[in-house]
Amino acid sequence: MKAEVIVNKNYTIGEIDKRLYGSFIEHLGRAVYSGIYEPGHPEADDQGFRRDVLEMIKKIDVPIVRYPGGNFVSGYNWEDGTGPKEKRPRRLELAWQVTETNEVGIDEFQEWAKRANSEVMMAVNLGTRGADEARNLLEYCNLDTDTYYANLRRQNGFDKPFGIKTWCLGNEMYGNWQMGHKTAEEYGRLAAETANMMKMADPNIELIACGATGSDDWELTVLNHVYDYVDYLSLHTYYGKQSHVDTPYFIGQSVQMDAFIKGVAAMCDAVKTIKHSRKTINLAFDEWNVWYHSLGAPYEKWSVAPRQLEDIYNFEDALLAGCMLITLQNNCDRVKMACLAQLVNVIAPIMTQPGGKVWAQTIFYPYMYGSMRGRGSAMRAIVKCGSYEKSYAKEIPYLETSVIHNEEKRELVVFAVNRSMEEDMEVDLWFENFGDCVASEHIQLYCDDMLAVNTEEEEKVAPITVDVENTSGTKHTVTLKKHSWNMVVYKY
Ligand code: AHR
Repeated sequence: MKAEVIVNKNYTIGEIDKRLYGSFIEHLGRAVYSGIYEPGHPEADDQGFRRDVLEMIKKIDVPIVRYPGGNFVSGYNWEDGTGPKEKRPRRLELAWQVTETNEVGIDEFQEWAKRANSEVMMAVNLGTRGADEARNLLEYCNLDTDTYYANLRRQNGFDKPFGIKTWCLGNEMYGNWQMGHKTAEEYGRLAAETANMMKMADPNIELIACGATGSDDWELTVLNHVYDYVDYLSLHTYYGKQSHVDTPYFIGQSVQMDAFIKGVAAMCDAVKTIKHSRKTINLAFDEWNVWYHSLGAPYEKWSVAPRQLEDIYNFEDALLAGCMLITLQNNCDRVKMACLAQLVNVIAPIMTQPGGKVWAQTIFYPYMYGSMRGRGSAMRAIVKCGSYEKSYAKEIPYLETSVIHNEEKRELVVFAVNRSMEEDMEVDLWFENFGDCVASEHIQLYCDDMLAVNTEEEEKVAPITVDVENTSGTKHTVTLKKHSWNMVVYKY
């Protein structure tokens, strides 16, 4: 199979905001407790955070982590997670039907984020609470004033504000699984009021309003209310696999993600036009992943940090996750932030054993290389390749690719998935206006067995280094193995 990619230095999609490589830690399952936090573990640091987990996260270089939910946030009292630990209440947690001990809250999480070299993306509760609690939380986190909540933070041992820049106005407020879910009108009004008050307190913050599925009138109604107050609209997508579905169907689903992004961007622009606004609302894809393996798995109701949503990812999941990340990169002109949901144990690239090891799931690798090497400008490449058809799309390209130009490092990083199940793909790449380029690195993720997984004992799906030809020029040819994910780097 043959394909062609033409890249010209003058044609870019846009600069990638590093927050495109964000992730998510929710108070859910073992994401926090026995995930990032496990006092008593041999790797625990002075605050009970697992150093081995922090090291894995640093390998990815995760620039921002959404917190504390998710569905959890819609019933959360942020005050419960502040101040002396022995005084913190144990609460009935309705979203995931467990007990929340509140041993970790924003006091600890902002410290953890620093240790992970990351920023916090903070979500406020617009389910069971509202604008007042949101502005109080913002004061607690960000203000240096001599006022009640800023002083409460000082009293709790934090003299300096946490300086959280990015805030989510609730979570999935359209869904009946959400505590306090709302109609678009109700949410739009509440989000606008909350945003207005939050920006009065701290005009430097950036706000994300909840989008929905992009297929009903939620977005348009909400945008109509919040347009002047917020900066981003959120999108969430998880792909699953029904038993009768084949791999090409499964890994092609990222084309739906692309259509979703473009559709929601069009809705933002429609409202911009109606309002004659100069402002553009960008997108925060603040939950994305594959999620289906763990659905229906039993756990003990009202227990503390049970195993929930512990998907064990296989090789084809890594291919789809890789395609999804490429899609996000290719939409970086509108998608400024994205969060792989989630980061540890819960539908996550990183797994831990309580008291034991930490290891990388299959999806860890496309995410790690994407984040580490996908910094710079996404190029508007012309891609010529064959395609196949499935019920949800007429044309699913066999080659899913993005090309990222890192000017500082003078390199072009090509991320590519060959979706063919049968054939290797020979890709001709033309790099125009870069001068001569030399291939410097080819990392490949491949496995014969689409269902192979990584476990604590054995890593069956791991990247390998492929030899590259070190010829110099403007045209290069690279072979992508059938059903493989690749990163190929060219220096100029
Ligand atoms: O990430 C798991 C859950 O998926 C989140 O809590 C919710 O926002 C979404 O439905």
